[in-house]
Amino acid sequence: MVILPSMHITIRQLQIIEAIVQTHSYSLAAERLYMTQPAISMQMKQLEHNIGVRLFERQGKRIVLSSAGQDIHPQIQRLIANYDDLIEGIHAAKDLHKGRIKVSATTTSNHLITQMIAQFSKINKNITVVLKITNREALINQLQNFEPDIVLMGEPPAKLDLLSERLIPNSLVVIADPEHVLAGKKNIPLATIADEDFILREPGSGTRETIEKHFISKSTVIKSNLELGSNEAIKHAVSAGLGIAVVSLHSILLELEANKLVILDVVDFPINRYWHIVKRKGKHLHPAAKEFQDFILKESVLYMDSYKQFIE
Ligand code: PGA
Repeated sequence: MVILPSMHITIRQLQIIEAIVQTHSYSLAAERLYMTQPAISMQMKQLEHNIGVRLFERQGKRIVLSSAGQDIHPQIQRLIANYDDLIEGIHAAKDLHKGRIKVSATTTSNHLITQMIAQFSKINKNITVVLKITNREALINQLQNFEPDIVLMGEPPAKLDLLSERLIPNSLVVIADPEHVLAGKKNIPLATIADEDFILREPGSGTRETIEKHFISKSTVIKSNLELGSNEAIKHAVSAGLGIAVVSLHSILLELEANKLVILDVVDFPINRYWHIVKRKGKHLHPAAKEFQDFILKESVLYMDSYKQFIE
């Protein structure tokens, strides 16, 4: 058995490292943590001396992680996330009906998750839900660092150790403005829409990845000269007649009702996917987060009805 020498490292020092990594500056890190710059420098000096590793180096005016610092940064992030969980757990243990839940969801699920949180908050007034909306790639990074308690996303990535449960369908449909020449046509061939200008989400979006794979699997190539970073922007651009797009049905219910957008009847569409509720294996859920998870599992089926009419 190898006995490693013990090292004195405090959680505060880890939080200082993270603040420097994010701000690239001792003074901004100090501001963020309500400390003075000399106090930050002293803590880092002491830590580097204790562990015998140089963590940062200067690149011009920016402070960046040294290569040894980069090697241990993921473990530091994980320890900070565990510490935050511990604090949440202590608060939650004092009162089962209090707590703060960190939820992350994909951009596409914005409408669905905010509706569910609104319902949950009505009956759990003392629980605070902190919601981060971001694209699939950023979500996977957050999961990698054990940041969120609960995640709502499309297909869970196979490469991470996750626990996931399938929720309701998340159909991807082709949309156009109601005046579009293809609006109202039946069984439009894939090759016909491939001739249209597509408006795509940014690289890193799960929706975009799925669309690209779908067209490749049908040996069809699409063209796009407009990339937009949100579903809202895509909806505006499509209803302004700038092109067609493929989006989740959940994100366009209001526009369909208001007749600002139409779904095109395209062969091999909709692409049928599902929403999943996901968490990292080994991530302990405090009681409030567990309550939220159970709520989502139970309630999500209620949201089926609102959009079933559009795909049947
Ligand atoms: P997106 O993700 O919002 O990044 O497009 C949807 C998904 O999780 O598949």
